[in-house]
Amino acid sequence: MAKRTRIQDLFTAEVDSQYVAMGWVRTFRNNQFIALNDGSCLANLQVVVDFENTDPALLKRITTGAALRIEGTLIASQGKGQTVELIAGNIDILGDCDAETFPLQPKKHSLEFLREIAHLRFRTNTFGAVFRIRHALAFAVHEFFHNRHFVYIHTPIITGSDAEGAGEMFQVTTLDLHNVPKTDEGAINYKKDFFGKPTNLTVSGQLEGELAALALSDIYTFGPTFRAENSNTSRHLAEFWMIEPEVAFADLDDNMDLAEDMLKYLISYVLKHCSEDLAFLEQRLLDEEKQKPQQERSEMTLREKLNFCIENPFERLTYTEAIDILRNSTPNKKGKFQYPVEKWGTDLQSEHERYLVEKHFKKPVILTNYPKEIKAFYMRMDDDGKTVRAMDVLFPGIGEIIGGSQREERYDVLLSRMEEMHIPAEEMSWFLDTRRFGSVPHAGFGLGFERLVLFVTGMTNIRDVIPFPRFPGNAEF
Ligand code: 4AD
Ligand code: MG
Repeated sequence: MAKRTRIQDLFTAEVDSQYVAMGWVRTFRNNQFIALNDGSCLANLQVVVDFENTDPALLKRITTGAALRIEGTLIASQGKGQTVELIAGNIDILGDCDAETFPLQPKKHSLEFLREIAHLRFRTNTFGAVFRIRHALAFAVHEFFHNRHFVYIHTPIITGSDAEGAGEMFQVTTLDLHNVPKTDEGAINYKKDFFGKPTNLTVSGQLEGELAALALSDIYTFGPTFRAENSNTSRHLAEFWMIEPEVAFADLDDNMDLAEDMLKYLISYVLKHCSEDLAFLEQRLLDEEKQKPQQERSEMTLREKLNFCIENPFERLTYTEAIDILRNSTPNKKGKFQYPVEKWGTDLQSEHERYLVEKHFKKPVILTNYPKEIKAFYMRMDDDGKTVRAMDVLFPGIGEIIGGSQREERYDVLLSRMEEMHIPAEEMSWFLDTRRFGSVPHAGFGLGFERLVLFVTGMTNIRDVIPFPRFPGNAEF
C-alpha cells in the first residue's frame, strides 16, 4: 500500500506522479469533483472522478463527511481556483457518513451551533484554522523560551496551597459526598481524604515556579489552570492554559521587556507561519463586521492589527496616571461608563482598560504600580507604601492579557503583607523559606493562552479557541 501524502504536501509535490491522499469529503459536485480535506491545511484537494467508469454504488457513498482513500495521478490543474488536482484511479471508502444525519452541511453554520457539536467542529474551515494557529502559538512559546535558555517546569495541577488568591478554586476530593467523615467537633475530617488534607485544582503555577526560579534563574510553566468563578463572559473559562515565566535577578522593567518581547515574538511567528489560515480568518472577520454598524467596525484588518502590535512600542504608564486619564475622559464625564471612575484606589473594569487601549492610546498598554489593596500579597511594595510593582498588559478587544509583578523578596515585608491579608504563614513556610535562604529580586507574569489565541485569530468568544471549553454549567465531552 503506497504511503499517504498529506494534502498540504501535495500542493507542492511533483506533478504527473502517483500519490495516495486520505481525508474527509467536504463536497462532491456533479458526481465528478470531490473537495477532500485532511486538516493538514485549510485548502481542499480537488479530486477528479471518472464517473462513467466508476461503480454507481461507490459514487453514492461519496457523501459530505465520508472518509476516503484515493490513489491517483497528481496533475497541474486545468480549472480555476487550484494549482493541482488528483485524477482518481482507485477510490476506497474508509468510513461512510450518513448525509441525512451528519450535522455539518456544506453551508455556513453559526458559531453557537458549532459549539454544541464541538466534537465535529474540527471539521470546519474556521476551527481547522483556529486550532492550527493555537498549535503554532504553543510551539512558538516553547521556542521563544528555549532560545533564551529558560527551563520548562511542570508545576502541580493538584495543589495543597490555597493562598494565591487569584480566584475561586475547585476542590479535589475522594470523600463520599453522601457520607462525609466528621471529626469529634463535627467538621469535615480531611485526614480521611485522599491526601490527608484539603486539596484543590491550581489557579496558577507561580508560587511553585518561584521556587524553581530561585535556583534555575530563568524558568517558565505552561499548563492548565482552573478557576471556579461564576464568570459567564466571552473572556473567561473555568479551565484555561497559562504561560508563567519567572526570572531571578529581574525587576519590573525587565519583566515588562520580557512580556513585550514575548508577545511580539508569538504574533510574528503566526504571521510568518500561518498566512493561509490568517487570511481565511481575516476574511471571516470582515464578513462578520459587515453585519455591524459602520462605527463599530474596526479600522484595521486582522493582519494589520497584528502587524501594528509588533511595530509599535507598548505604552507604559502607572495606574495613577491611568486613573487621571480615565477620570477626565469624555465617557466618564458623560456618564457612559457602567462603573464611573472617581476615586484613586478602585479596581479597573474591562470597559476602562478597553477605553485606554482602544480609544486613548490606540495600542497595547502596560499599566504598572497598582494600589496594594487590589493586588496579590506577593507583589513587591513600592517605597511609598501605597502601591506595588504590579503590571497588567492590556490588548485591544481583549483587555487584560497578562498579569504579573516584581515579587516581594524581603522576608519581613512579605510576612507582614501576608498577615495584613490573612494568609496563614504556617501553611506557606515553604514559600517563605525562599526569602530566608538566599533571596534575590525576581519577577514574573502569567499570559492567558486562550486570550492570546483569541487576539491572534480575531475570534470573539474564548469558547471558540479551546477545543472543549469549560464554563459554568458546561463540561460537555
Ligand atoms: O492576572 P492573573 O490572575 O495572574 C496570575 O494568576 C499570576 N499568578 C500570574 C503570574 O504572575 N505568574 O492571571 C493571568 C492571566 C490573565 O491576565 C488572563 O490573561 C488569564 O490569565 N486569565 C484567564 N483566562 C481565561 N479565563 C479566565 N478565567 C482567566 N483568568 C485569568
Ligand atoms: Mg490579573
